[in-house]
Amino acid sequence: MSKIQELHSKIATAQLGGGQTRIDSQHKKGKLTARERLQLLLDEGSFEELGMFVHNRNKGLTTEQEQFPGDGVVTGYGTINGRLVYVFSQDFTVYGGSLSEPHAQKICRIMDLAMENGAPVIGLNDSGGARIQEGVVSLGGYADIFYRNTRASGVIPQISAIMGPCAGGAVYSPAITDFILMVENTSYMFVTGPNVVKTVTHEEVTSEALGGAQTHATKSGVTHFACSNEVACIQNIKQLLSYMPQNCEDAAPVYPYEPGNETRPSLNNMIPENPNQPYDMKEVIAELTDTDSFLEVHKDFADNIIVGFARIAGRSIGIVANQPAVLAGVLDIHASVKGARFTRFCDAFNIPLLVLVDVPGFLPGTDQEWNGIITNGAKLLFALSEATVPKITVTTRKAYGGAYCVMNSKHIGADLNFAFPQAEIAVMGPKGAVEIIYKKEIDSAPDPAARMNELVADYTERFANPYLAAEKGYIDEVVTPEETRSKLIKGYKMLENKVVNLPRKKHGNIPL
Ligand code: COA
Repeated sequence: MSKIQELHSKIATAQLGGGQTRIDSQHKKGKLTARERLQLLLDEGSFEELGMFVHNRNKGLTTEQEQFPGDGVVTGYGTINGRLVYVFSQDFTVYGGSLSEPHAQKICRIMDLAMENGAPVIGLNDSGGARIQEGVVSLGGYADIFYRNTRASGVIPQISAIMGPCAGGAVYSPAITDFILMVENTSYMFVTGPNVVKTVTHEEVTSEALGGAQTHATKSGVTHFACSNEVACIQNIKQLLSYMPQNCEDAAPVYPYEPGNETRPSLNNMIPENPNQPYDMKEVIAELTDTDSFLEVHKDFADNIIVGFARIAGRSIGIVANQPAVLAGVLDIHASVKGARFTRFCDAFNIPLLVLVDVPGFLPGTDQEWNGIITNGAKLLFALSEATVPKITVTTRKAYGGAYCVMNSKHIGADLNFAFPQAEIAVMGPKGAVEIIYKKEIDSAPDPAARMNELVADYTERFANPYLAAEKGYIDEVVTPEETRSKLIKGYKMLENKVVNLPRKKHGNIPL
């Protein structure tokens, strides 16, 4: 065999991973192989593999550990829509994709290159965890990855797709990255599996219920996206990337946009006359942003707040919006954390923010207080205050109390604050306010209910409007809903070159 034939033969062997039988078994589970996933993810012919012949050094528990070139992970670089990305894709057909020392080193190499060259890292995870035969060196390998994830945070975008098991310590790499996507029914994430759970807490739970995609998309918020299958998951990664710059020094890609008539008359009828009637803020978002450009993040978690990416006149923005259709858009612990984390991603990666406000306040109750709504609500306040990207607020209706301050008010650094004429910006809603300040007068009135109604009507007339805030300069402009999109286009253009010099410090101390 010539040297070149020998090379081809070695490549062919490596490409088979753990062999055809295990590939078949992977397919039977409804899963693609590591290489098939990369083929779908990257532009055709763009993948350059690094470390194909790295293999296990056979120093572990068993001396006769079978050797597989690549050692359970395919690593390299390629392009997505022409933009450079670094990738690793764990190969479940080799020792269940478990992480050995060389496996970890391959991932670290990719991450180092990504940091040095300023491009995103995408990890496709499908692994039985630490390579049991290796013991502590594989734990060291995890820690090497976690450290790099942390160092890379805020420097380059990091995206983790979970396409099979991800258990034990393995969960903490995705957890540090910016976005997690999970595939329904074939992926799960947990710190300890159902057997350990049963032993320790006597709970009987399936893997899917404990840590499947739906669980993490709805209950824990660990995953940002639950995808119906692997192909949808990979499409989702590509779409997500399209809103992001390559690194923190770069700007997000700008999409072609033909200026046209930016008036959106349907917005004029979207906010109900009755302030207690809900409406869907997603409909407002759809009108304000470029057609079909909205990608919602954390869709099924804390849906009293909406976060996601969109484009306005071809440029990426990040949206944080109260959702009056769910719990009247109230801020609670989960909503605050969800909004804060998304805000910090946008700020780290130069993506301007749009904050849409219709918030009656923070959710009252022992559950919220005992679980720390104070600390958690402060996260959103802190994140929006510290963000230096262009920040525009549109108050569509209610902005009451502390939640007014938190939701990107002028006072915490918003660049432009618009309000619809229906906006009500006050310390609290009319009924609550009247009950407190006119309690004695109402109690002693011959007809307390009638007096109450009168006072509420008077308070509403005087305070539940945007004009008092506009008089003070807290609102820059009261705008008709239909002209808001045009105002946003001009506003972001005006703020395009915004520079803020922050005081020198090591890092802030966000209330965790
Ligand atoms: N270390 C080494 N090999 C592992 C492994 C690990 N952590 N996890 C799985 N494997 C191997 C299996 O021995 C098997 O090898 P084979 O192809 O030579 O038979 C192969 O990967 C597939 O595993 P299998 O158990 O048949 O697949 P499954 O889909 O039925 O189950 C897991 C997948 C992940 C649930 C199961 O393998 C498991 O529980 N692994 C251990 C998880 C763990 O405790 N990890 C260590 C702590 S982080």
